[in-house]
Amino acid sequence: MAALCIGQTAVPAVGYECRPDATGAAAGKSFGGSAPAATGGAQNLGKGFFCPPCITRFPPNFVRQLSIKARRNCSNIGVAQVVAASATDRPAAVAAAMAAAPAAEATEGLQLGGGGAPAAAVNGANEVLLESLMDSGVSSFPCKDTQEAKNHPSQRSSTLAVHGGERTRRPKVQDTLTIPICQTSTYTFKDTAELIAFQEGTFTSFEYGRYGNPTTNAVEEKISSLEGAETTLLSASGMCAATTMLLALVPAGGHIVTTTDCYRRTRQFIQTVLPKMSITTTVVDPADVTALQLALEQNNVSLFFSESPTNPYLRCIDIELVSKLCHEHGALVCIDGTFATPINQQALALGADLVLHSATKYLAGHNDVLAGSLSGSKQCLSAVRALHNILGGVVDPNAAYLILRGLKTLNLRVNQQNRTALQLSQALEAHPKVARVHYPGLESHPEHHIAKRQMTGYGGVISFEINGDLETTSKFIDGLRIPYIAPSLGGVESLVEQPTIISYWDQTPAERARLGIKDNLVRFSCGIEDFQDLYNDVMQSLDAL
Ligand SMILES: Cc1ncc(COP(=O)(O)O)c(C=O)c1O
Repeated sequence: MAALCIGQTAVPAVGYECRPDATGAAAGKSFGGSAPAATGGAQNLGKGFFCPPCITRFPPNFVRQLSIKARRNCSNIGVAQVVAASATDRPAAVAAAMAAAPAAEATEGLQLGGGGAPAAAVNGANEVLLESLMDSGVSSFPCKDTQEAKNHPSQRSSTLAVHGGERTRRPKVQDTLTIPICQTSTYTFKDTAELIAFQEGTFTSFEYGRYGNPTTNAVEEKISSLEGAETTLLSASGMCAATTMLLALVPAGGHIVTTTDCYRRTRQFIQTVLPKMSITTTVVDPADVTALQLALEQNNVSLFFSESPTNPYLRCIDIELVSKLCHEHGALVCIDGTFATPINQQALALGADLVLHSATKYLAGHNDVLAGSLSGSKQCLSAVRALHNILGGVVDPNAAYLILRGLKTLNLRVNQQNRTALQLSQALEAHPKVARVHYPGLESHPEHHIAKRQMTGYGGVISFEINGDLETTSKFIDGLRIPYIAPSLGGVESLVEQPTIISYWDQTPAERARLGIKDNLVRFSCGIEDFQDLYNDVMQSLDAL
């Protein structure tokens, strides 16, 4: 049977398909492929749709009679038949469907996804709408919504990284396994009636590239499934995600709390741009809960924003405790989880309202694309999304595809990077030419007890201090053969940097000292090269000092 179901998630009506289930791959194989269905007698229904020949039409009440469970069951033959039957006879019926749709909204909705607006359900209306959708290019229905996937015991992060967001977000282009790159700036409407239906929420599609794109949506869905989030907004960079979020969620004259160790540009935005809107900030040490409590009591705090682990010292926030305290004072919590990834840390499950990523790093994972993501509840994200639609920091569909592709191996990459970094950090800590290692997986780390509790792996970045000055540290870096000297982290290639030189060279030594950036600090981002090769390389360069 064809694995088709009528899902309840918001799915644009661009034409989505789910693959046949494993057991029924041979039957009723294709709804929309150019290749003939495996069933010898499949009918060609025009526009490349195929379905089993035995089903020609279903009774008008058939869909309504299906149980909700059956409607959501991807392998339910009844649902498959609904779809198949709807494809057997498709007079142009858009107008009739649109006329029927409002009535359907008032009743038990058989939602075809899409913006949460019920699309059809009443008596014959379902049939009409299904037919109209076939006419309009929708060949089938979502297979598995992300909530279902999340709850499914077999769908853990590895599975979600590969399949999340792709089963329900599959624009119909032949029988491609991969999500197509929808390289378009705008979207078309068949006629004015369809446009009005779109405006009124009874027909779901896209309008303009700044407001959404099917390829981008697939990435957003995949990240949502990995983070356990209701929704995700993908944007052009991590900074774009952070700045849009801060501008949207903190009112003029508002107050935020942030932490001392932080990506430099985020700190700059907080210190130089937000004050223009009279937004003030309290900066606390990542572990100083008393200071946080005081800040919450003395200010009307709108938002707590911190990385965890932080850049570059990998300090960790007790996300559960911080979220509890902030929520008691009505403040939102946003965690920049770039260094953690959703594989190692589930900030939302720990209590945060929002989780942000520089998707440039681990999520995309190949040092070839910039992007940012923000995940959370629809309610939290709605103001951010609205501002994003105005500011326009959209990611290009090609870049979105690279992220989608990169995400599929997130679990494999991150687990390897976790292992390499932990072993390397232990070796570094034991080396006489190393003064100190900053890695949350080490017992010497000030928040190791927190990291151990809230992370399942400690990430691929190690910061460490060479026993020596600026020049000795540069010598160590120059002596390495495998890692590139470059900013960024989280990609398949190992990267190494001396923060003083790469990020803070324009600052005076006094200013660097004030920010805690030491001349002998090295930040090493483990790639996915063989551990032994990286180990040998680091050791030979240390031994040469
Ligand atoms: C923790 C963290 N957050 C945000 C950013 C900004 O991300 P992007 O470079 O994608 O704008 C960075 C960049 O290095 C980062 O390290």
